[in-house]
Amino acid sequence: MGTTIGVISIKGGVGKTTVASSLATTLAQTYGKKVLLVDANYTTPHVGHHMDILEPQKTIHDVLDGKARPISAVHTRFGVDVIPGHQSYGKMVPAFKLKDRLASIKEDYDFVVLDSSPHLNDETLSAMIASDALLVVSTPDYPTLSSTLRAAQVAKHRGKPIAGIILNKIRDPKYELSLADIELATDIPVVAQLPDDKKHVGSTFTRIPMSIYASASGFSTEMRKLAASLVGQPEQKSWWEEMVGGRSRATLNRQVLRESFYSSVVDPKE
Ligand SMILES: Nc1ncnc2c1ncn2[C@@H]1O[C@H](COP(=O)(O)OP(=O)(O)OP(=O)(O)O)[C@@H](O)[C@H]1O
Ligand SMILES: [Mg+2]
Repeated sequence: MGTTIGVISIKGGVGKTTVASSLATTLAQTYGKKVLLVDANYTTPHVGHHMDILEPQKTIHDVLDGKARPISAVHTRFGVDVIPGHQSYGKMVPAFKLKDRLASIKEDYDFVVLDSSPHLNDETLSAMIASDALLVVSTPDYPTLSSTLRAAQVAKHRGKPIAGIILNKIRDPKYELSLADIELATDIPVVAQLPDDKKHVGSTFTRIPMSIYASASGFSTEMRKLAASLVGQPEQKSWWEEMVGGRSRATLNRQVLRESFYSSVVDPKE
């Protein structure tokens, strides 16, 4: 049975689509999983731009409108099946529709990864409702933290507590909130710490997900560690962890995620 992971945040530009594309690609390419990536950002869909699909024949909007079956809207790129969005779609989408429409195709995949909208409306709710687990993308600043807190509240209210925070665009710890600050404020574990990296410009320009475009980068290495915890595999220690013999807080959080998430959400039998 497939596991649907919603990548959410009600703040624009924090890196939802970047993370969703790289996570989907890593689960497929590094861990050999069958992955479907779906654009649930209906108003401003960008998954196609990140996954090199500029003129999709069929989209999630056709699927939601009942004009296409999900399978006919699948475009395969970088080893991932992708259902992109249509660039100009003006209708509102009822919050429960996505879950219903994806119910049959979900069974054909190990993971369904949902990109989502930055707006706290039915778009974000539809991703929350369709997901088995949520990961929230945040950046280490106060405005984003307040949005993250709000998203966590709404998710909890919907019975979908957030499994972890993905801390993205870490630039200068001197002027940024720390992992400990963020965990203290939200009571949610930080499960990945992704550095700001100018290589993302090249990734966006070439429309190749960062995990492939710069596979040796800190971003991609951390993404592999996060994906490892989602598939229930051990992660490789970094050279620093090998040297000092300890494990970072995010590594320990992923260990908890691996144990709780994998055994309760991905494969409840084991
Ligand atoms: N770790 C990073 N380092 C540098 N740039 C990044 C990083 N992560 C994402 N970006 C860049 O930030 C911009 C916004 O990223 P992205 O489109 O993924 O955000 P988003 O949350 O999906 O935005 P929206 O809310 O509009 O959907 C992009 O140009 C992307 O390349
Ligand atoms: Mg986006």
